[in-house]
Amino acid sequence: MNIGFAVCGSFCTYQQVFPVMEALAEKHTIIPIFSDISYTTDSRFGTHSDHIDRAEQICGREVLHTIPQVEPIGPKGMLDALVIAPCTGNTLAKLAHSIADGPVTMAAKSHLRNGRPVIVAVSTNDALAGAAENIGKLLGRKHYYFVPFGQDAPEKKPTSMVADFAKIPDTLALALEGKQIQPIIL
Ligand SMILES: Cc1cc2nc3c(=O)[nH]c(=O)nc-3n(C[C@H](O)[C@H](O)[C@H](O)COP(=O)(O)O)c2cc1C
Repeated sequence: MNIGFAVCGSFCTYQQVFPVMEALAEKHTIIPIFSDISYTTDSRFGTHSDHIDRAEQICGREVLHTIPQVEPIGPKGMLDALVIAPCTGNTLAKLAHSIADGPVTMAAKSHLRNGRPVIVAVSTNDALAGAAENIGKLLGRKHYYFVPFGQDAPEKKPTSMVADFAKIPDTLALALEGKQIQPIIL
């Protein structure tokens, strides 16, 4: 299978996300896609060039990071599924409102025209606040599937939720059969 793997700017999760990309690359052809901020930002969680190098090494191809690079995904039927992991509150909001103003959201829009699955692994501090309605919208939207997610620090960050990234492969396998893995909420 050809799987798109789109990475958004929840930098603290990269340590958990890249091993999953690696595991998927053993079975599938993985097309890496970075959001603008993921492609350009250095933070305490690593430099942008380290992250790009790591993804390119795992996938054996260059990271797509512009709208023109991802636009052919739909017309050329390039992907069987698109994984968005981590998916930020920002990208959730855009997907929920069909905004396609960056490489990840455009990849989703282009891919969705083929009616194929988009697998979302949320990671955002406002999942139970501002982002809740966007998560709700996508839960009811055709072709979207959620990696099981839960509150990661209910006392310290009462509205934060993060996906269990280790469940991406199982979520993907079921999504390719048109099924949502359960339980969604951990
Ligand atoms: C160090 C760092 C960590 C961040 N972690 C998160 C996060 O876990 N979840 C989130 O939704 N946004 C997080 N952000 C904010 C996003 O990167 C920001 O909203 C950005 O616009 C997201 O763009 P994207 O959705 O196109 O990747 C973080 C930003 C920085 C600099």
